[in-house]
Amino acid sequence: AEGNSRSDLIKTMNSLQDTFSAIGGETVDLPQIVVVGSQSAGKSSVLETIVGRDFLPRGQGIVTRRPLVLQLVHTPAPLSSQPSSSSEPSSANPNFTLPSSAASSGAPQEYGEFLHIDKRFYDFGEIRKEIENETLRVAGGNKGISRLPIHLKIYSPNVLNLTLVDLPGLTKIPVGDQPTDIERQIRNLVLDYVSKPNCVILAISPANVDLANSESLKLARAVDPQGRRTIGVLTKLDLMDAGTNALDILTGRVYPLKLGFIGVVGRSQQDINAGKPMDEQIRTEEEFFRNHPGYRNIAHRCGTKFLAKTLNQVLMNHIRDKLPDMKARLNTLMGQTQQELNAFGDSAFLSDGANRGSLILRLMTQFVRDFVASIDGTTFEIS
Ligand code: GDP
Ligand code: NA
Ligand code: MG
Repeated sequence: AEGNSRSDLIKTMNSLQDTFSAIGGETVDLPQIVVVGSQSAGKSSVLETIVGRDFLPRGQGIVTRRPLVLQLVHTPAPLSSQPSSSSEPSSANPNFTLPSSAASSGAPQEYGEFLHIDKRFYDFGEIRKEIENETLRVAGGNKGISRLPIHLKIYSPNVLNLTLVDLPGLTKIPVGDQPTDIERQIRNLVLDYVSKPNCVILAISPANVDLANSESLKLARAVDPQGRRTIGVLTKLDLMDAGTNALDILTGRVYPLKLGFIGVVGRSQQDINAGKPMDEQIRTEEEFFRNHPGYRNIAHRCGTKFLAKTLNQVLMNHIRDKLPDMKARLNTLMGQTQQELNAFGDSAFLSDGANRGSLILRLMTQFVRDFVASIDGTTFEIS
């Protein structure tokens, strides 16, 4: 039950964002999970394993050259045993919600949509190509970066509802046609995302580099000095020198973060080249932690699956913290819309403006109803 109400809450938040952007209103500042780390630390690999699909350009050198804003949307699994009527909350906004029809019509369950093209991508290899093409188009053919984000939504029964942001890696030395101040440019770009107080920072550090040199932790500390909204992620545990392990870091004895450190093992470049499937890597990862003498005792809080669970929990807590503020903003918007509608008076059904007004009111009313339904013990006072 706890799991359901949590995912309903986040689902409602996603539809809130869609509603606000569809009616052209000011969007609510939703918590986003932002991946930060030096180049080749394993950022894109971590995001891919959270999604459970191969779709991101990855590899040696500078690959991620534009921010990627990735919204994961959980869709119902096929042949679900749940009764469809009561357990699934009705969508806040039937006009702008896409995923549910795919489940019943027998269409493929998982697909992606970009903001910049009107097309559903069922082939995740094509999603990667599209990201590569879009990167090339805007950031050029050499090593340049662009601040302009690529927006991608992935609909799947296998994801939790999360918004994740992949960013270019922190770097020191300009390569290709990068400007001489590339370090500062990338740092400022990353800062734009992680400075938002309700952003959750996924600070990636490769385990085969001394944590004292971690660029991601340095940057996270600059915006989150108390370590309240930073999750440390230690990648490449499989590449540590024989006889060494990261147990001290993973158990919080080295670097204090309230949300802790989570260790992961992603696919090596060789695995990727050989086409090792993602689910096979998840099993490899689980076995790695279970069989490793250093990590055996903490295996249940290591790995990609545990990271995904932690992220969802953290997001939920953030949303709860932001509820009072969001309620206030919603009340204001409801009040304004009601006034607009009243101003149309008897001609309400004759003008385009009125149709828009009534549409907005209908959407907002439905939204508030769903929103209230998703929050235990919280009520709205609509003026
Ligand atoms: P990014 O530049 O931070 O996005 O890093 P990528 O995700 O592109 O990964 C850089 C390289 O490191 C790729 O060749 C990956 O295959 C490899 N890699 C990432 N995570 C791991 C890991 O946990 N273990 C090993 N052995 N290789 C990894
Ligand atoms: Na890379
Ligand atoms: Mg990357």
